[in-house]
Amino acid sequence: MRELLLVNGPNLGILGHREVSVYGTDTLADIEKAVAKEVADRGWTVRSVQSNSEGPLIDELEDSYDTVGAIVNPGALMIAGWSLRDALANYPQPWIEVHLSNVWARQQFRHESVIAPLASGVIVGLGARGYRLAAQTLLEIVED
Ligand code: DQA
Repeated sequence: MRELLLVNGPNLGILGHREVSVYGTDTLADIEKAVAKEVADRGWTVRSVQSNSEGPLIDELEDSYDTVGAIVNPGALMIAGWSLRDALANYPQPWIEVHLSNVWARQQFRHESVIAPLASGVIVGLGARGYRLAAQTLLEIVED
């Protein structure tokens, strides 16, 4: 089975109820379903992890070297998640960083991502659609 890894960091488990004017009304379950639908035709399934702590995300990455690629929304770990950054440096498949909101249109502290330099690409500001676009792109990158 070919699995796509979906990684969501702190405070993303409450999507749908979290600052909806910024993050929208889709829940994480909605996003998981949408990503799964996007890749189903190609026989991929989704392995999803969300945690409010860095450690479980790193554990899952270390256990997921057999996945085809990953979509990573690090939440605020983008700012100083150095351990997550190092875990991603050793993740052997392509991965895309996604942010629901346009982080560059927001506070200064959200303007730097310590993981972005390692990503195949970064999608920001497109809401839940960004996850689907990332899934489509990974399908192209991996299946080519
Ligand atoms: C976020 C943006 C981050 O700055 C913030 O800390 C989040 C969500 C986004 O998806 O827009 O938790 O990653």
